[in-house]
Amino acid sequence: MSASLVLGLDVSTTATKAILLDRDGTVLATAAAEYPFETPRPLWAEQDPALWWDAAQTTIRQVLAEAGVTGDDVAAVGAGGQMHGMVLLDEADEVVRPAILWNDGRTAAQSDAIREAVGRERLIEITGNDALTSYTATKLLWVRDQEPEHWARARHLLLPKDYVRFRLTGEHALDVNDGAGTLLFDIRTRTWSPEVVEAIGLDLSMLPRTVEGPEVVGAVTAQAAAATGLRAGTPVVGGSGDQAANAVGLGAVVPGIAAMSVGTSGVVFVPTSSPAFEKDGRLSAFCHAVPGTWHFMGVTLSAAGSLKWLRDELAPQAGWDELTALAAGVPPGAEGLIFLPYLSGERTPYADPLARGAFIGLTVRHRLGHVVRAVLEGVAFSLRDVFELVSATAPEPLRELRASGGGTNSALWRQIIADVLAAPIVRTRTAEGVATGGAILAAVAAGWFESVGDACEAMVALTDTTEPGDEAGAYDRAYAVYRSLYPKLQDTFAQLAEV
Ligand code: XUL
Repeated sequence: MSASLVLGLDVSTTATKAILLDRDGTVLATAAAEYPFETPRPLWAEQDPALWWDAAQTTIRQVLAEAGVTGDDVAAVGAGGQMHGMVLLDEADEVVRPAILWNDGRTAAQSDAIREAVGRERLIEITGNDALTSYTATKLLWVRDQEPEHWARARHLLLPKDYVRFRLTGEHALDVNDGAGTLLFDIRTRTWSPEVVEAIGLDLSMLPRTVEGPEVVGAVTAQAAAATGLRAGTPVVGGSGDQAANAVGLGAVVPGIAAMSVGTSGVVFVPTSSPAFEKDGRLSAFCHAVPGTWHFMGVTLSAAGSLKWLRDELAPQAGWDELTALAAGVPPGAEGLIFLPYLSGERTPYADPLARGAFIGLTVRHRLGHVVRAVLEGVAFSLRDVFELVSATAPEPLRELRASGGGTNSALWRQIIADVLAAPIVRTRTAEGVATGGAILAAVAAGWFESVGDACEAMVALTDTTEPGDEAGAYDRAYAVYRSLYPKLQDTFAQLAEV
């Protein structure tokens, strides 16, 4: 039998998506099934794992039908997904409580407890990361502290896309990229750190075996085959967290080629050939989905999310093109209007949940176009902050930025970002980066390619490049003012949190 396709999944916070690719990376079909997440209390974010498995079954069936193929045509399956979410299974592999997600902020006390138990410097030295509330270890401690009855039943930890893989194959496993995102990993050895696990009083036996991204974990069971239309016995790989899968989908798998996504949040992702990390833990540092490589990344929490907020709240009638056209008529620097995009707090370079958005410098002369331009520029300034920090941390110089995410569909925004970062922005034909990355990892397991790099070479196609233009220097003064604002406003933000 010559199965000629690979299937990729993206188990995200808002939807599960599926994609079918052939050996050239040509897309045969895509599908998405959306679902909500719950916020039972302020700061909380939870999801029922059944939603992911239901959506995976639906979307796998849809892509097979849309492409007019059967499970026999699929050589292997790989998934990327939302990182850090905690899924607990009991002895009988039943879900113990809803998953606590990456965007849940209830675990400040547990983050402090981990810093205290391991020592902050030692924690960063071993895991590459500081104890942010996003990370899985803090969520395990929260359940142990607050829900002893659930904790007593918990036997296995999985992350969201690993739960879907578990339903496909019956295997408990975790890939090394998501593993590093638990804060329980030794980033150098690419597996659990007995020192960290013991220091915070967890039991290694609840942690699953760890695998590399393109490594086969197991095969689709007869039951899962009946549920999805896949062939029983189809191999399923480790996959990775969404950012690493997206980087694979863009071909950012070697040092020097970074991936930038401008979605709700903005991310600059840098592959490295050694486990490099920022000494103060201001960047997230994980194992890459490519064996023998690592990566770190910085995050602007509200990127295209800032523009969406502006459109929804200030110009609900306007289309995206109309809004950006208004901004195109305004000169660089928006005539002295500056926007701070910290609408959801910030992660990089200021890990400050209390930071807030701001417009500084409004005058009666400013029109809606200035406001839109200030938002596009403010997000670009924040990406420059991230880019400067990752560039300073990168052991290998960055040559190229491969961009994805809704924000990069705007030619104006791409140009502003290329000018502000003084770096060329390259796009690929990839529409669904995360699911594509999962499919590329599966293509390696299918034996089509020797390595993830070879697979990207064959399956990722570049489409266009935006070079920094003549206006690149025109942003320097506005950026210098932007840079000076957060330190001046930090106390104000803290005061506002008390109002
Ligand atoms: C990565 C992170 C997000 C989530 C949600 O550290 O928190 O990318 O994976 O998609």
